[in-house]
Amino acid sequence: MTVTQKAFGKTPAGETAQLFTLTNANGMQAEITNYGGIVVRLTAPDREGKFADVVLGYETLAEYIKASPYFGALVGRYGNRIAKGKFTLDGVEYTLATNNQENHLHGGKVGFDKALWAAEPVKTGEAVGLKLSYLSKDGEEGYPGNLQCTVHYWLTNDNELKIEYLAETDKPTVVNLTHHSYFNLAGQGCGDILSHELMINADRFTPVDAGLIPTGELQPVAGTPMDFRTPMAIGARVNQDDVQLQRGGGYDHNYVLNKDKPGAMTLAARVCEPTSGRVMEVHTTEPGLQFYCGNFLDGSNVGKGGKVYSHRYGFCLESHHFPDSPNKPDFPSVVLRPGEKYQTKTIYRFSAK
Ligand code: GLA
Repeated sequence: MTVTQKAFGKTPAGETAQLFTLTNANGMQAEITNYGGIVVRLTAPDREGKFADVVLGYETLAEYIKASPYFGALVGRYGNRIAKGKFTLDGVEYTLATNNQENHLHGGKVGFDKALWAAEPVKTGEAVGLKLSYLSKDGEEGYPGNLQCTVHYWLTNDNELKIEYLAETDKPTVVNLTHHSYFNLAGQGCGDILSHELMINADRFTPVDAGLIPTGELQPVAGTPMDFRTPMAIGARVNQDDVQLQRGGGYDHNYVLNKDKPGAMTLAARVCEPTSGRVMEVHTTEPGLQFYCGNFLDGSNVGKGGKVYSHRYGFCLESHHFPDSPNKPDFPSVVLRPGEKYQTKTIYRFSAK
């Protein structure tokens, strides 16, 4: 197991970002930069043991800075949308940066995906990793409180990319951190992801309005194209005449994960790519999982190896709390108060069959 490091390029502020290469005992590799905590490259073995890079991304930092739909990034302070960029906490109304029509998306104009994190390689008996730290200042993008965040990325010898999130605040605030890799288990740039077979361990999802803001309802998936309780090709129903699919331009929805106990680490999803046999499981302590099937990819992003990322060439499984929770009192709370610890964990586990 090794961690190596090299310069990746300069940030708009003129600081040098690093690129860390994590290699586990099986030869699986993760390349992660401390700019935005972006996973730039992630290899996984197929059924013959052959590795391929299974995440979309760029070769240079400049391209990430120029235009990236959150490829591989750490997303915060609030992953997903907050309606009209407004919420009220303890009787005080806060106004956030709006960057998705009238709504706030993925932390605003300069979210955690564009921050330069302090980085330190770490190691245990069964994993190599990277410890990333970032202080989001009181008022950043409109959020209250100085928020000290620490994220550990681990590449384990069980072929897992394990992400541990920790945050503390000095004023009441809202937090919802996530990871935004676009996966293609056939290999990045190798076609669309419509034949991937997906299982999501959720009986319900949060239906959205035309601006992709949850209506507040928890709707059963049964009898709808949102139902992934038994494995189903992503493309089997994606173009069906369904109001939710129309609003998302395909799947772009938060699932309410089945859990006996809030905060328990449970299986959220399993994806299998039939040609290569690659399998990815997502396990998380979070209550929700955004399934986004790359509907906004349109070929305008040219990625690693000159690959053109066309419509639905990658999918995201973003573990988090439900979108717009600060305005939905019935959703699990995203409020963090001084003295409390925000602590969540998500694992992407790779195998082949
Ligand atoms: C998330 C959102 C999508 C889209 C992507 C980034 O997954 O839910 O609507 O904004 O991020 O393009």
